[in-house]
Amino acid sequence: MQWRRRHCCTHTAKLLYVLSLLGVLIFLAHQVWLPKLTGMAWWRANPVVYGGGGLNMSSKYSLWRFVTIHQADVNTSFHKKEGVSPLQGKPSFENTALANTSQTHDLSATVNHGTFPYIINEPDKCTKGQHGPFLVLLIATEARQVEARNAIRQTWGNESVAPALGFIRLFLLGKNEGELGLLQQRMLEAESQRYHDIIQQDFLDSYKNLTIKTLMGMNWVAMHCPQASYVMKTDSDMFVNTEYLIYKLLRPGLKPKRNFFTGNNMRGFAPNRNKNSKWYMPPELYPSEKYPTFCSGTGYVFSGDLASKIFQASLSIRHLHLEDVYVGICLAKLQIEPTPPPNEFLFNHWRVSYSSCKYSHLITSHGFHPNELLKYWHHLQSNKHNACINTFKEKESRMHTTRMN
Ligand SMILES: *[C@@H]1O[C@H](CO)[C@@H](O)[C@H](O)[C@H]1NC(C)=O
Ligand SMILES: *[C@@H]1O[C@H](CO)[C@@H](O)[C@H](O)[C@H]1NC(C)=O
Ligand SMILES: *[C@@H]1O[C@H](CO)[C@@H](O)[C@H](O)[C@H]1NC(C)=O
Ligand SMILES: *[C@@H]1O[C@H](CO)[C@@H](O)[C@H](O)[C@H]1NC(C)=O
Ligand SMILES: *[C@@H]1O[C@H](CO)[C@@H](O)[C@H](O)[C@H]1NC(C)=O
Repeated sequence: MQWRRRHCCTHTAKLLYVLSLLGVLIFLAHQVWLPKLTGMAWWRANPVVYGGGGLNMSSKYSLWRFVTIHQADVNTSFHKKEGVSPLQGKPSFENTALANTSQTHDLSATVNHGTFPYIINEPDKCTKGQHGPFLVLLIATEARQVEARNAIRQTWGNESVAPALGFIRLFLLGKNEGELGLLQQRMLEAESQRYHDIIQQDFLDSYKNLTIKTLMGMNWVAMHCPQASYVMKTDSDMFVNTEYLIYKLLRPGLKPKRNFFTGNNMRGFAPNRNKNSKWYMPPELYPSEKYPTFCSGTGYVFSGDLASKIFQASLSIRHLHLEDVYVGICLAKLQIEPTPPPNEFLFNHWRVSYSSCKYSHLITSHGFHPNELLKYWHHLQSNKHNACINTFKEKESRMHTTRMN
């Protein structure tokens, strides 16, 4: 009896040991090796059409899928100009209609007045404290997305993420027309009274006006908060691990960077010429066959000094509706190349399947319903200190039970 039990237990211990080794291998393959092998290397090396060859790529498509589908469609010899970075020599858009509205602008006056008048503003939000806030979040949203705003206020946009540092959250909105627009406007004003985190200018709120919306945010920082250390522009359907962004990427202990811009770097992408695509770019607006490096609009981060520089650059560059591409063009004009993030998995413009381990080590993930945001955020908060240990345990016990059955 005694012997049998001991025997049984050493046996189980051996089995457990082997299983846990297996678990580590599977984990590594899943997290580290496979993504590198299956997509990233290829994707980095070859230019692809931004938004794919006309496929309506909704957020649920992962990049892997996107790459596989379009590998065949993309005629690489067509887009490729080997070894020529968009910043080497004269940026190509300088030679196009894009660059010239060649009047001399009084830049300071324009910065002071903005492009469109503010309907709702928070001019004094930044003046508390001597040093200016560490991070300003600019979140593109639409009037009807009340639930999303409330979820963000309770989760990654909550000031309590970094109470001592100075953390400002602003939702960016345009204006809607018609009777519904009037009703929404009244509700928005009440919401603004309550939270003081909304800015709105007098332009029509539409997908094609996203560039104007972003520039409003840049203008706000330039005008009302030039002393901010960093700014992040993101969307209302995003999961943003603000804590990881602040403490692991930006690091409040260090001297704030200047001319710094990072996010999911889109390097060497070609304009989409398929008229049915959401990412369609008419050759008349952008004749060049390559975009300068830009960062996906789902989430990019930059040093506070760039807000006014980008805004000023925008005054002499014709607007394009693709907000992230447009900001990339402004950066190219300023001769600023986006910095690649420290690793490939920080800024995701697709949805990363949730695990507390992964989510405690990323900055953005895309495509969240407000309820999911609340659920995952709270799960992450209560598991973040042993997020990855728990993942191992879960995996092990899952494997164990599978074996046992
Ligand atoms: C790719 O494009 C180039 C230039 O337009 C063309 O000469 C070549 O035949 C194309 N290749 C394929 C496989 O379509
Ligand atoms: C753009 O403006 C600059 C000077 O303002 C001029 O030298 C250049 O030729 C113009 N380019 C085009 C395409 O009009
Ligand atoms: C922000 O978080 C604090 C602390 O967890 C909480 O008391 C507060 O209600 C939150 N704010 C919002 C708007 O949910
Ligand atoms: C963008 O906003 C301006 C100002 O309200 C408006 O005139 C224009 O039609 C809008 N553009 C689109 C494409 O919605
Ligand atoms: C993409 O698909 C979604 C839903 O499947 C649809 O609402 C949207 O209008 C489509 N966009 C384009 C540009 O076709």
